[in-house]
Amino acid sequence: PKNRPWEAYGSTAPDPGALRVLQEELTKVEDLAGVRNLIGDCTRCKLAKGRKSIVFGVGNPNADLMFVGEGPGAEEDRRGEPFVGKAGQLLTRIIEGGMKISRDDVYIANIVKCRPPNNRDPESDEVESCEPFLHAQIDQIKPKIIVALGRYASQTLLKDRTPITRMRGRWGEYRGIPLMPTYHPAY
Ligand code: URA
Repeated sequence: PKNRPWEAYGSTAPDPGALRVLQEELTKVEDLAGVRNLIGDCTRCKLAKGRKSIVFGVGNPNADLMFVGEGPGAEEDRRGEPFVGKAGQLLTRIIEGGMKISRDDVYIANIVKCRPPNNRDPESDEVESCEPFLHAQIDQIKPKIIVALGRYASQTLLKDRTPITRMRGRWGEYRGIPLMPTYHPAY
């Protein structure tokens, strides 16, 4: 349908064999640049069709605090950096003005690295294809705390459909790291 153009491409769930090979390769990389390198000019899922940039992530590779959003918006897609649009500017004000730390001291990434069309939620096949890279980023950075930004990121990372209004403020865990769900700055 015209208003759901991505459906024309069908599901792009990763082939289990290819996924295993990728996961194996990701365990061998030595730094974030190595992770980015394995993403390459990615066409693993259907989000590749509409993106301008792969929005990998930004910040301190040794950050104690890592923020994870859902996926790039239009401005992020244009600029290749997460959380630089209107919501991102608010996030930066929260980090710098509220938390009194520099945006450069934290690490900011998204679950999917390419912009979903019309800012729809990422679909499960897209998350399956992309999540190994988030795992590898976390394994490299080893943050002490992850903050999930918004309903989608919180529910997806914690595999828990509890409404964000109830999840918010309650610790969960992702890859063995304490994870705090909170509202998305766009909200
Ligand atoms: N919203 C997100 O979830 N991520 C971004 O990078 C920008 C907006």
